[in-house]
Amino acid sequence: MAAEPVPGLRLPELADSQFRLLQRLMLEASGIALAANKRPLVAGRLMKRLRHYQLPGYEQYLQLLEQPHYLAERRLVVDLLTTNETYFFREPAHFAFFGQWLAKRKGALRIWSAACSSGEEPYSLAMAVSEHGTTQDWSILASDLSLSMLERAASGIYDLAQARHFPEGWLHRYCLNGVGAMHGRFRVQAALRQRVSLREVNLVQPLPEGVGPFEVIFLRNVLIYFDNDEKQRIVRRLVEQLVPGGLLFIGHAESIHGFGLPLRLLSPSVYQHL
Ligand SMILES: C[S@@+](CC[C@H](N)C(=O)[O-])C[C@H]1O[C@@H](n2cnc3c(N)ncnc32)[C@H](O)[C@@H]1O
Repeated sequence: MAAEPVPGLRLPELADSQFRLLQRLMLEASGIALAANKRPLVAGRLMKRLRHYQLPGYEQYLQLLEQPHYLAERRLVVDLLTTNETYFFREPAHFAFFGQWLAKRKGALRIWSAACSSGEEPYSLAMAVSEHGTTQDWSILASDLSLSMLERAASGIYDLAQARHFPEGWLHRYCLNGVGAMHGRFRVQAALRQRVSLREVNLVQPLPEGVGPFEVIFLRNVLIYFDNDEKQRIVRRLVEQLVPGGLLFIGHAESIHGFGLPLRLLSPSVYQHL
């Protein structure tokens, strides 16, 4: 996302030392280590905050961030600098595996989508459980660090184009088509939304009270942002919340190889707690 140039204005530079301060802020707040090549992206994404406060440069913005009553602004920086890309039924092999597992499994089901972004993952899971599950006793915890993503997830409203990976017929079965001002959008059915509770959870911190245990944890496309030690701590903490026989899904591009955890590989990037 690049900053749009304002005619007649020179874009301020994000100096090395300023970028380092932002790297530290991100690391402390989210555990995410911003690589050096992310500097233009950081400058671009924060440009709109400089405009918002009508500041001439990043120096003044960083001074503002240091003030204690700008806590919400520091959160916004983390929001702006995290990658929230997601879509419904992402990594279809996971949903194929999960659907078959659901059809065979009996008993209550507690599922955690542990970096849920704007909600596409937990709502895909909710549709899969409705379709293939054998129990009425199920719930999904959907958590993320980003409050703005959790707000979007809470609405359950998406553009119709985002339904392109839905299995045939599921859009009509599990969602409501928008009319009037909502034309071109859809909303996940209330019956499914009610199964999904949204909560702020920062994965680099100890888990809040009452999180877990779970039969299934989706921890996908978030480990990629952490260094190996942090990754290992996060996965260990989450695996402690999996019941024996429970499933852990990680992103296909991610690896937890060599972490020495009580897990066995069932299918690519799908693990079972021993
Ligand atoms: C790329 S999205 C992945 C969304 C979804 N799991 C998927 O696979 O499509 C990564 C999400 O991780 C969240 N995230 C980043 N750092 C986090 C942290 N320390 N704790 C919790 N969530 C975090 C971001 O806010 C973002 O919504």
